Amino acid sequence: MKFHVNGEGFEATPAPGQCLRTLLRELGMFGVKKGCDAGDCGACTVHVDGNPVHSCLYPAIRAQGRHTTTIEGLANKHGLHPAQQSFIQAQGFQCGFCTAGMIMTAAALNQAQLAELPVALKGNLCRCTGYRAIADAIAGISHIKNGVACGTNVPAPASHGIVTGTERFTFDIEIDGLLHLKILRSPYAHAFITAIDTAAALAIPGVAAVLTYEDAPPHKFSTARHQDPADDRPDTLVLDRVIRFAGQRVAAVVAISEKIAEAGCNALKVTYEILPAVTDPHDALKPDAPRVHADLPSNISATIDSEIGDIKTAFAAATHIYEGTYHSQRIQHAHLETHGAVGWLDETGTLRIRSSTQTPFLTRDALATLFELPRDKIHIACGRVGGGFGGKQEMLVEDILVLAIIKTGKPVKYEMTRAEQFSASTSRHPMEVYVKLGADINGVLTGIELNVLSNTGAYANHAAGVLFHGCNESLTIYRCANKRVTARAVHTHTLPSGAFRGYGLSQTNFAIECAMDELAQQAGLNPFRIRRLNMIREGDPLISISDNPHDVEYGSYGLDQCLDLAEQALSATPMPVLPGWRIGRGIAMGMIDTIPPRGHFSTSIIHLTETGDYELEVGSAEFGNGTSTIHAQLAATALSTLPAHIKIQQANTERLEHDTGAFGSTGTVVAGLATERAARALASKILSLASEYFEVSLELCHLHSDHVTAGNLAIPLTEFFLVAKSHGHDLSGTGHVNGTPRSVAFNVQAFQVAVCPASGKISVLRNIHAADAGQVINPMQCRGQIEGGVAQALGAALFEQMLFDETGAVSNPSFRNYHIPAFADLPHTTVLFADTFDCLGPSGAKSMSESPFNPIAAALSNAIRDATGIRLTTTPFSADTVFSHFINE
Ligand code: FES
Repeated sequence: MKFHVNGEGFEATPAPGQCLRTLLRELGMFGVKKGCDAGDCGACTVHVDGNPVHSCLYPAIRAQGRHTTTIEGLANKHGLHPAQQSFIQAQGFQCGFCTAGMIMTAAALNQAQLAELPVALKGNLCRCTGYRAIADAIAGISHIKNGVACGTNVPAPASHGIVTGTERFTFDIEIDGLLHLKILRSPYAHAFITAIDTAAALAIPGVAAVLTYEDAPPHKFSTARHQDPADDRPDTLVLDRVIRFAGQRVAAVVAISEKIAEAGCNALKVTYEILPAVTDPHDALKPDAPRVHADLPSNISATIDSEIGDIKTAFAAATHIYEGTYHSQRIQHAHLETHGAVGWLDETGTLRIRSSTQTPFLTRDALATLFELPRDKIHIACGRVGGGFGGKQEMLVEDILVLAIIKTGKPVKYEMTRAEQFSASTSRHPMEVYVKLGADINGVLTGIELNVLSNTGAYANHAAGVLFHGCNESLTIYRCANKRVTARAVHTHTLPSGAFRGYGLSQTNFAIECAMDELAQQAGLNPFRIRRLNMIREGDPLISISDNPHDVEYGSYGLDQCLDLAEQALSATPMPVLPGWRIGRGIAMGMIDTIPPRGHFSTSIIHLTETGDYELEVGSAEFGNGTSTIHAQLAATALSTLPAHIKIQQANTERLEHDTGAFGSTGTVVAGLATERAARALASKILSLASEYFEVSLELCHLHSDHVTAGNLAIPLTEFFLVAKSHGHDLSGTGHVNGTPRSVAFNVQAFQVAVCPASGKISVLRNIHAADAGQVINPMQCRGQIEGGVAQALGAALFEQMLFDETGAVSNPSFRNYHIPAFADLPHTTVLFADTFDCLGPSGAKSMSESPFNPIAAALSNAIRDATGIRLTTTPFSADTVFSHFINE
C-alpha cells in the first residue's frame, strides 16, 4: 500500500492484521508508544487525516492513501506545535511515556472539547502526573523558568525530546537481526512439570530456540534488587520445574518475530502434575497447608517479633482502647512502559543490555553471579525509563533475556505485554493489619500494638524488607513508650508481591491512622489535637522495632508545620450543603526515613569540557522521578552556572563503578548528594587552579556561568580548560555517598468528601496535601511527584484491585478491567510545603516521591467516617461497599 507519514510518502505491505502502531514503529517512528495493545491507554495516539486514533487498534491497511501524523511530524517549519510548547512550559510529564499520545490528542481538541477535558482525555492514561500538569499544559499555563538553579522551576533536560518523540525509551532502538522472546506461562497455581515436548515448536520456521528448565542455570536468585543481595532469600530459578503461581514462566521461545515466538509457545506440549495450592495467607499458616517452598519449614517467609517497653501493662492502665483489623488489596504499579529489555553480544563477547530498570548496577551484578560471568563482561544501560514505582526494583526480564542471548548468540528483545505486566510481574503486598491502641484519660498514647499478615505470594522478593519498613515508620511517628509488633510475611501460590511505592507503609498507615481517629472519638479529641498530642517531636527517639538500624536522625523536622498547613487549608474550606449527600473531613499523617537502611551507594563524576559546559555522569536512572533535572540544578548551583550547561548521562554501568539504584526515593537525597559533592569538588579544583595559574589569592577567585575570575582577570572556561589540560590537570570532580545517616520526611493529607447514601458514591470535594520535603529544589516537579502519588493512592483507595479466578490467575489483566485513574477520576490536589532545610540532604532537600501515597487511604476512610459514621476498613472503598452499609438505614 502507499501512504503518507509526516508528509513523506511510504510504501509498505502490512502483515495480515498488523496494526498501524507496529507499522509506524517499524518505520522508525518511535514516538508512537506501546502501552497496552488494547486501545485503553492512548500512548500510541496519532492523527490519520487529522483525526486522533489509537494506532494499536487501527489496522495498518486502513492507512492506505491517507496522511498519518505522528508526534515526530507535529512540529512544522515554524517550530513546535503550540501543544508541544505548552507541555514544555507546564512540564506536563514525568516519565514522558504517555506524553506523545497525550499531545496528539490535545493538539486535535476543538473548543467544545477543551471545555470538557475529563471527557476529551478519556482515552489517554497517565500513571505519573495525576493529570494536573497535563491540564495546566492544555490550559497554556507556564511554570518553567530558565534561570538560576536550585529552588526554581527549571525545565527537565529531556523536555524537547519528550514532546517531539525523539527521547529514546527502552525499545526505541533499531537492531539488525533482532530476535523476539515470548514466554509460555503456567495456567496452574501449583504444579510440577514432568515433561516439555519442544519438537513441534522447534519445527516452526523462524523459531531460533526453545528454553526450558533444562537450559536454565542451576543457581537460585531473588528477583528483588537490594544493595545487599542477602536481604532477599534466593528462591527463584530462571526456569523452574516447580510452578508456584499461575502465570509463572514455563518455557520461552525465541524467534524472528513476536508472532512466530507466540506460535512456538502455543506449539509446546507441557505435561504437568497438578498439585494442591494455597492462595489465602491464613490457610497458608495451617500446619497441613500445601508448602510453597519445600525447603522452608513452613510457609512463613519473614517475621518480626519486637517489643519496646511493656505493652501488657500499658494496655491494662489505659482509659481508652481501640482495636481494629484493616485490609489492603493487591494493586499493580501500572507504569505505562511495561517491563522489558533488549540485549546483544558485542564484538568482544561482552553482553550489552538496554533495560527498563531502576537498578542497572545491581542487575548487572546479579546476572554476573547467575551466569558465572565477570562483571565487566556485562554492561547495562537504561534509555529513558517509562515509569517504575518500585516495580522495576526487580530483575524480571533480564535473566531470561541473557539466557536467550547466550543460547542463540543473537540480539534478543523481550517486552512484557500489558497482560503479563498484570499477571506475571509483581504487585503491592496485600496486608491484613490488626492494630490496638491504648491511651490515658487525656488521649495520650500508652501503647501501640500491630499484628501484620502480609501475603508475599510465591516468592520472597522484598518480603522481609516491606514487612520491616511497613511496620517501622508508621509506628515511629507516634511518641509512645510501649510498642509491640508481630508480623509475618507468608507465602501463597499467588503472584509474587514486591516493592511498590511506599514499601509497605501505605498498608500499615491505613490501619494506624484510622485507629487514631477512632481513639480520638473515644477521648473526645479532634483528629488534629490527638495527633499533636502524640506525634514525635524533634529529639524524640526514632526507633520502634528493637533491631532497627540506628542511623536515622532529625536532619530537619516539619511534621508540626504540615499539620498546621493542612488544618489551616481545611478550616478555610466551607462545609457545603449538598442535598442527599453527607459531608465530612478527615486527615492522616505519615513519616518516611529518607533512605533505605543498610547502605545505599551512589557516585557521580562531573567534567569540565572544552566547550565550557559540564558533563555529569550519574548512576541512577531517570524514570519519571525528575532526577535529571534535580541533578542538573544541584550541579549548576555548586558550579555557579545554569542548569542548561550541565549535560547529564544516567544509568550506564560502563561509565561508573557502582550505584545502588533509583529506589527508596533516593534519586535526590543519595545520588543528588553525590552530584552536589562532585560538582563542589570540581568547583574547588577550578578555583584553586585559577589561583595557582594566575597567582591570585583563592578568596579572589570566583566561578561564573561561562568564565572564572581571578582578581581582575576573567578567563572563559573554554580557555581555562585548555590551560589546565596543557598543565596535565584532570578537570573532573567525584562525589561518593553511602546513604547514612538518614533523615526523616513527613506528609499530612486532608480530605473533605461528600458521600451519597443512595448510590454509595464518594466525591472528593477538597484534597490537601502538606509535605515536609526540606528545601524544595524544583517546586513544579516536587508538586508533580506529590500530585502523582496522591492520584495513584486515590486509585488504590477507591477502585483499583487485582482480581483472581478460582485457579489463582489474575482475572482482570488489562487497563480496561483494572481501572487506573483517568483524568475524570481525580480531584485537584492542593500541595503545600513545610519550610524546612535538611542538614543531611543535598542543598537542604529530602525525599518526596513515595511518601505522598501513604496517608491517602486512611485520610479518606477518616473523612468518610466523619461524613457517615461508617468506618471502612478494607480498600478499595467501592460505591457498592459504601452503599451496602446504608442498605438497612
Ligand atoms: Fe504520563 Fe509517565 S508521564 S505515564
